[in-house]
Amino acid sequence: MLQDITQLEHEADRDLELVTDANALEQFRIKYLGTKGQIKALMAQLKQVPKDQKPAFGQAANALRQKLQSAYNAKKNQFAATPDNPRHSTIDVTEPGLPPRLGRTHVITQTIAGLIEVFGRMGFEIATGPEVEDEYHNFIALNIPPQHPARDPLDNFYLTDPTQENPVLLRSMTSTIQIRVMKNTPPPVRVIATGRCYRPDEHDATHSSMFHQIEGLYVDRGVSMADLKTTLLQFAHAYFGPEADVKLVPSYFPFTEPSAELYMKMQVGDRWEWIEMGGCGMVDPAVFEEVGYDPEEWTGFAFGLGIERLAMRKYGITDIRWLFDNDLRFLRQF
Ligand code: DAH
Repeated sequence: MLQDITQLEHEADRDLELVTDANALEQFRIKYLGTKGQIKALMAQLKQVPKDQKPAFGQAANALRQKLQSAYNAKKNQFAATPDNPRHSTIDVTEPGLPPRLGRTHVITQTIAGLIEVFGRMGFEIATGPEVEDEYHNFIALNIPPQHPARDPLDNFYLTDPTQENPVLLRSMTSTIQIRVMKNTPPPVRVIATGRCYRPDEHDATHSSMFHQIEGLYVDRGVSMADLKTTLLQFAHAYFGPEADVKLVPSYFPFTEPSAELYMKMQVGDRWEWIEMGGCGMVDPAVFEEVGYDPEEWTGFAFGLGIERLAMRKYGITDIRWLFDNDLRFLRQF
């Protein structure tokens, strides 16, 4: 009978040696010290032990129980998490950390960077102008007469009384920058300008009262419509891929003559579509005269494209409002 105890002790000793973590220790506890464990079973045997052996058996069984209990306690302490003993902590220090979530540039900012990159390679420098403009730069110098619908107060965000002399407004297009550049730089010039524009448009899937444009201006001797088309075609290829194409459809703008609407052929889903991207043309001699360039000597082209439109086509975005809702679930895709 006492032999059983000795045997159990040996077995427990062996098992204890194999306990190297908290999990194994718990298994050990269940096997020996649990309510259905070996020690409990040993105590149950006591009934069957002959009377004269009972005291010895009881003592030995108790001694073993105490021994296993204190071995268990010791191991348990050892496995407890302490700053000095992180190996046995319940925190897995080898688990890779959570990287901080990095911010990113807005998809429109990314698009602008891409445009600057493409036109930069073609030798265009960057120009800028103010978002709050006066009537002179937004209309008059661009040859847009007072009765022109583009000047209608209902189609613009005037900041001062539009009936007063040279009122101030949020610029309705980036063409204003053409005037600022030419007034400050002698020809030749080759610039692009990007920025926000404002029109009290319908706020729908394709219109926003705040939007972005990219303006291009190239002035030199002997510039022709062929240069304009080639430049735009190169741009379309660089930006949308080798199969993109451009088409110029006759149109009218007061600051260009001749003028054209620019269409780009690009893939929309699995189809190819012609999409209107903006306006362009040869700089009107009246504009050259206004900025002090000799129209007999200098020629040039200009174009203006909607940046949201470019971005929406490039990324397959179907509603312009998503661009400005600031929903990170949307913005994080780009
Ligand atoms: N500024 C025009 C618009 O917002 C677009 C445009 C047309 C720009 C012809 C140009 C141009 O530079 O030459 O509708």
